[in-house]
Amino acid sequence: MSDFTSNFWSVYVTPFQWGSKRTGPDLARVGGRYSDEWHRIHLNNPRDLVPESNMPAYPWLLKDTVDASVMPAHMKALRTVGVPYTDEQIAKAAEEVKGKTEVEALIAYLQVLGTALK
Ligand code: HEM
Repeated sequence: MSDFTSNFWSVYVTPFQWGSKRTGPDLARVGGRYSDEWHRIHLNNPRDLVPESNMPAYPWLLKDTVDASVMPAHMKALRTVGVPYTDEQIAKAAEEVKGKTEVEALIAYLQVLGTALK
């Protein structure tokens, strides 16, 4: 598979990010490679785990909660550009992310990357 089709950034990003500079590693198959706790520490400050990392820290993700009320509208908008969300997924989304921190939501996403297609 070429970099063009295997890089997760390119799957549902619209418009397709032709020529985007990619500084970090390809995360297309990162799901399951590290524990949730590893991701939490890494996102809070990558240098705590990878001393030479130049990835930015995202400490606010551990504090800020997901805005559940905007989820259905965002998912519907993404569906219009091709992301295959079902009506059921959209209906349940707000309830599923309610009270979750942004880092919990992001880690849940990272942990499924590369696991859907066997
Ligand atoms: C919210 C956005 C981001 C997420 C979720 C994220 C996630 C990750 C993950 C999971 C890894 C480990 C990959 C592996 O070991 O296979 C990683 C590594 C890395 N990322 Fe990011 N990243 C983000 C933003 C960025 C940005 C903006 C940059 C560069 C400007 C970057 C640069 C790097 C680099 C250089 C590494 C390898 C060193 C390290 O493990 O820290 N990342 N990133």
